[in-house]
Amino acid sequence: MVTASCFLFSMVVVVLIQFIRPSETNSTTDQSALLAFRAHIINLDPRDILATNWSSATPVCNWAGVTCSRRHNRVAALDLSNMGLVGTIPPDIENISFLASLDISNNNFSGNLPREMAHLHRLKELNLHHNNYTGGLPSGNPSSHYKEVR
Ligand SMILES: *[C@@H]1O[C@H](CO)[C@@H](O)[C@H](O)[C@H]1NC(C)=O
Ligand SMILES: *[C@@H]1O[C@H](CO)[C@@H](O)[C@H](O)[C@H]1NC(C)=O
Ligand SMILES: *[C@@H]1O[C@H](CO)[C@@H](O)[C@H](O)[C@H]1NC(C)=O
Ligand SMILES: *[C@@H]1O[C@H](CO)[C@@H](O)[C@H](O)[C@H]1NC(C)=O
Ligand SMILES: *[C@@H]1O[C@H](CO)[C@@H](O)[C@H](O)[C@H]1NC(C)=O
Repeated sequence: MVTASCFLFSMVVVVLIQFIRPSETNSTTDQSALLAFRAHIINLDPRDILATNWSSATPVCNWAGVTCSRRHNRVAALDLSNMGLVGTIPPDIENISFLASLDISNNNFSGNLPREMAHLHRLKELNLHHNNYTGGLPSGNPSSHYKEVR
């Protein structure tokens, strides 16, 4: 009986751990997501910062515009404001799981924000000011969880 409840307890713990673990992402995932993001920018900025600086040879946390959280060593903020970028935001952004702040203001991003952005549960600040979005925040998005800075 004791053995049985111990076993059940362990099973519950194992199942809980599966749920608690946020996702299977790590800084490699951050890197692929950022490179996918860059691939959706049509004209890399005139100064070519992203083209040269976002190199797989250096850790993402050292990339221009990227700030990592000390605690998780994951991308927590992305500031690509005022870079003259033309493009769209790809769904891959959902994999930057620790993203809390995104600033792409004063560029020329267009289209709709990907629905997958709703998976970014830590996203609190979103600055889209001066872009060319046709749609609003993704539909079905619990948009109240982030504050749009305008
Ligand atoms: C991230 O996880 C993948 C497997 O999912 C692994 O191959 C890779 O080495 C990990 N990267 C880091 C930096 O831990
Ligand atoms: C990329 O830019 C950052 C911030 O400006 C700088 O600290 C870093 O040295 C640059 N890395 C490369 C490889 O150019
Ligand atoms: C997020 O990362 C996972 C695992 O690497 C991958 O299977 C998935 O396609 C990625 N999501 C998007 C929207 O690219
Ligand atoms: C924004 O990008 C569109 C193409 O997607 C282009 O037609 C337009 O001229 C750009 N506007 C600015 C201000 O760069
Ligand atoms: C917005 O995008 C459309 C088409 O992509 C383009 O014709 C227009 O010039 C853009 N507007 C601005 C302010 O960039």
